[in-house]
Amino acid sequence: MSDSAAAVLHTIRSRRVVRSYAPEPVPEDALAEILEAARWALNGGNRRILAFRTVTDGQQIRLLKSVSPGMLGMPPAVILICIDLDKAAKQGVQLDKHHTTWIDVGTALMNMSLAAHVLGLGSCPVTSFSRAGLRAVLELPDQLQPELILQVGHPARTSS
Ligand SMILES: Cc1cc2nc3c(=O)[nH]c(=O)nc-3n(C[C@H](O)[C@H](O)[C@H](O)COP(=O)(O)O)c2cc1C
Repeated sequence: MSDSAAAVLHTIRSRRVVRSYAPEPVPEDALAEILEAARWALNGGNRRILAFRTVTDGQQIRLLKSVSPGMLGMPPAVILICIDLDKAAKQGVQLDKHHTTWIDVGTALMNMSLAAHVLGLGSCPVTSFSRAGLRAVLELPDQLQPELILQVGHPARTSS
């Protein structure tokens, strides 16, 4: 096996969710790399109807946590994965029939989690949240339907 193959497989095997974060901010270039990793994810029909929002404001993240029972940590950054309903409609995607859109959420999540991991960051997805609460906190436009929150941060010394 080549060194690069071994490195990729090691990355896949060594990633674990991190739910406890150090308070230090995540560098902007690291967040940009994580978003870039999402852009390269496998994508049903190459439709690309997901949209991403990055939040680094501490007050907004505290409010997000208050409407997200599945958010156990207090990360310095979160990346929200949304379905852009306008883009979906333009491409004739019916969410109740075309389940590939939710698989797209998963492929983006996986790429972002692995990118965070190789950048020395921890991450943890959250799907347990109030959509209405999250919309209100982030003042999301109507066409963005939130599907998943990815918490991102440097692992605390006692990460789980
Ligand atoms: C679709 C999805 C939703 C998840 N939702 C949550 C969540 O709301 N809160 C949480 O702490 N972890 C959540 N997780 C993380 C899983 O609990 C975690 O991936 C699983 O326990 C395996 O741990 P590992 O990824 O470290 O191997 C979610 C994972 C996935 C794939």
